[in-house]
Amino acid sequence: MADLRLERVTPDNVDAAIALRVRPDQERFVSPVVKSLAEAYVHPDKAWPRLIVDGAEPVGFVMAFFDIRFNPDDPDDRPRSGLWRLNIAAGRQGRGYGRFAVESVSEEIRRRGQSRVTVTWAEGEGGPEEFYLRLGFRRTGEMSGDQVVGELDLDRACRACRA
Ligand SMILES: CC(C)(COP(=O)(O)OP(=O)(O)OC[C@H]1O[C@@H](n2cnc3c(N)ncnc32)[C@H](O)[C@@H]1OP(=O)(O)O)[C@@H](O)C(=O)NCCC(=O)NCCS
Repeated sequence: MADLRLERVTPDNVDAAIALRVRPDQERFVSPVVKSLAEAYVHPDKAWPRLIVDGAEPVGFVMAFFDIRFNPDDPDDRPRSGLWRLNIAAGRQGRGYGRFAVESVSEEIRRRGQSRVTVTWAEGEGGPEEFYLRLGFRRTGEMSGDQVVGELDLDRACRACRA
């Protein structure tokens, strides 16, 4: 993890990004990278797609979103920012890459002046719920379609770090 970083997706690494695969039993929990890149193309102002690279090796993909309303018809619904997609390659999981991606997105959200990180996940065996709870996300009590809405309060997370 000496040289762990996020890289923009470019003509040089797009094939490597698209080739990333989670385990087959995890495919129902996250869209393939190629779909995320297509969505990033049509939402250039909202999507922040990045390759996770360790040394010379692409190990995952993360896409953040900024200022999206989940329920545009609800005047009380505030714009949110957070994790849209997170895919750590099968065989590269359990090494801290997912945590690094969440921390990097949190930093970017902080840089943009916000203090809450939102994510939605599907429940089920092999799903990412325990990962997000481990990182400090809490269920908000809302659902977005059939997905649980979770939120990380960066101010509270920071206080916990100092305690
Ligand atoms: C969920 C996912 C992103 C986690 O990435 P990862 O790189 O394996 O996770 P990390 O190694 O950074 O783990 C961070 C912490 O979460 C814990 N953790 C990770 N997965 C966990 C699981 N399934 N159950 C319990 N704890 C888990 C780790 O033990 C670690 O704890 P520690 O730092 O206290 O030791 C990865 O498994 C993945 O890509 N899954 C398939 C796609 C998916 O579900 N994406 C999310 C869509 S919303």
